[in-house]
Amino acid sequence: MTAQLNARGDVAVLVPAAGAGVRLGPGGPKALRLLDGEPLLVHAIRRVAAAPSVRMIVVAAPAAEVDAVAALLAPVAPVTVVSGGAERQESVGLALAAVPDDIPIALVHDAARALAPPALIESIAAAVRSGRPAVIPVLPVVDTIKQVGPGDVVHGTVDRSVLRSVQTPQGFRRDVLAAAHAGATDPLTDDAGLVEKAGVEVTCVPGSDLAMKITRPLDLVLAEALLRVP
Ligand code: C5P
Repeated sequence: MTAQLNARGDVAVLVPAAGAGVRLGPGGPKALRLLDGEPLLVHAIRRVAAAPSVRMIVVAAPAAEVDAVAALLAPVAPVTVVSGGAERQESVGLALAAVPDDIPIALVHDAARALAPPALIESIAAAVRSGRPAVIPVLPVVDTIKQVGPGDVVHGTVDRSVLRSVQTPQGFRRDVLAAAHAGATDPLTDDAGLVEKAGVEVTCVPGSDLAMKITRPLDLVLAEALLRVP
């Protein structure tokens, strides 16, 4: 069941959403939390599908929810839904396995970054297409960052000019991502971390305020406001 978007696209977008306890409906986990009456996953997939480079979207869902997630997304875009694994990393690996060999670029995207705009997806894809093996969207760190030890005692102040806050989608040459997953030992929270460990150069490109991670109640309020911006 290979669902296609733009047949001339060269990008597959992988969305791991197979965390334990994922259930459709309100009050559930992040990916299915409602924003303006629709699950975050629906908002995210709509924007991914609007990016012209995207040929295929693969969502990893919990085994028991594959049919329900497929039914939820069917009206939004052609999406392939696969069973996820025990860890996020395994879910990404299983989603990647569903991508045909002739798609050279793979992006991994977090459904909680539901308002990441098509232009950001295109800019990540373009950077990979231009020869970068791994590309991440970043923003400067605006807060002062302290290192803190036991008893909440400050040990030092970090030079924030060398720090970046990392968003998704993270983009990869598909073979680079596949090799990093095949060789992975310890689970990491982000895919660029895996390819970094494999010795691959990871390049930063400008992120987007719209790609904020929607996790706390205040984020939902902000996101609702962003939806109203023309
Ligand atoms: O649980 P955590 O916040 O680390 O999950 C991050 C993302 O990875 C979520 O979108 C979750 O659904 C996904 N995930 C997954 N498969 C797992 C665990 C988490 O796709 N086994």
